Amino acid sequence: MIVLGIETSCDETAAAVVTDTRDIRASKVLSQLAEHAPYGGVVPEIAARSHLDHIDTLVRDAMTEAGIGFDALDGIAVTGGPGLIGGVIVGVMTAKTLAQVTGKPLSNVNHLEAHALTCRLTHDIAFPYLLLLVTGGHSQLVAVEGVGRYRVMGTTIDDAMGEAFDKTAKLLGLPYPGGPALERAAATGDPARHALPRPMLGKPGCDFSFSGLKTAVAQVVDRLGHPSNEKEAADIAASFQAAITESVARRTRTALQTFAAAHPGVRHLVVAGGVAANRTLRAALAEVAGAQGFTLVAPPAALCSDNAAMVAWAGIERLRLGLADPLDFRPRPRWPLGEVAGVQ
Ligand code: KG4
Ligand code: ZN
Repeated sequence: MIVLGIETSCDETAAAVVTDTRDIRASKVLSQLAEHAPYGGVVPEIAARSHLDHIDTLVRDAMTEAGIGFDALDGIAVTGGPGLIGGVIVGVMTAKTLAQVTGKPLSNVNHLEAHALTCRLTHDIAFPYLLLLVTGGHSQLVAVEGVGRYRVMGTTIDDAMGEAFDKTAKLLGLPYPGGPALERAAATGDPARHALPRPMLGKPGCDFSFSGLKTAVAQVVDRLGHPSNEKEAADIAASFQAAITESVARRTRTALQTFAAAHPGVRHLVVAGGVAANRTLRAALAEVAGAQGFTLVAPPAALCSDNAAMVAWAGIERLRLGLADPLDFRPRPRWPLGEVAGVQ
């Protein structure tokens, strides 16, 4: 099976061609970073127009690199949500048009599901596994039991983890996008310089909270005066990164204990989403996983951040179970993972 994937839900326009033998024949990603950077965040209107300008070229380039024509495809997969609706509509209309013209089956892929299944493309991980999904819009601990079978064990009660990185970076005057910039700044800072709170410490369950941490950082920045110099910013970044990492690692440990009790013998903790690129987080998770006999699996950075190979793969997972979608599905700005249909 060979599937074309299309991704336009945020600020990356992407097209990819992937096979069910886990071969990424092409994966094209065009970042809109430069277009949004002057505004310090993604501007939905600019994103939608840019997707419209580039999606045709990206699809053509992916097909050329894969060395196939549309007639060779077994299906077309597209992110149908959740995401910035203007962008999602561009991808969905492109995919529906291609499906209509070629007569190929169409798969409506949930963006979070695509992140959640990426480890099966990159590492051939069997179900079930415990997933920590951390992106700019979501932070969840999920027991992934099968395609469309996602049991959310914990979620954020306020900001997403990536959002917390982005907002803190902004407070520190670091360039957009905040997450990678904050990690770079933290590398030269002292993580013990500021005693920041560890949100949710000691509370039962696996939910996350990050807004209190952000407020604590804002207070430190205020106290030190604006703009803080490079060394000050590095120390705050390192202290923030240590606090947020410890908080997330502890919640993950709680989830691992519950997951291990429900699934004896299963031993994979998977981290996915853009924030999974963070090396401090990965190291902390590897430690937590190792202490409980789990192995940490993290897709390579290029497949952790938004891309279309993960969408094509999720399409393969769904299409090979017969889960094709009609051409009249609606693009969705909101679409919780728990509402994704699958084979029960
Ligand atoms: O999954 P993703 O590419 O897009 C969606 O939100 O769906 O995640 C982007 C998020 C942003 O908030 C970005 O700042 C964060 O991931 N991020 C990082 C790092 N790289 C990306 N956060 C912390 N450390 C990083 N190295
Ligand atoms: Zn994403």
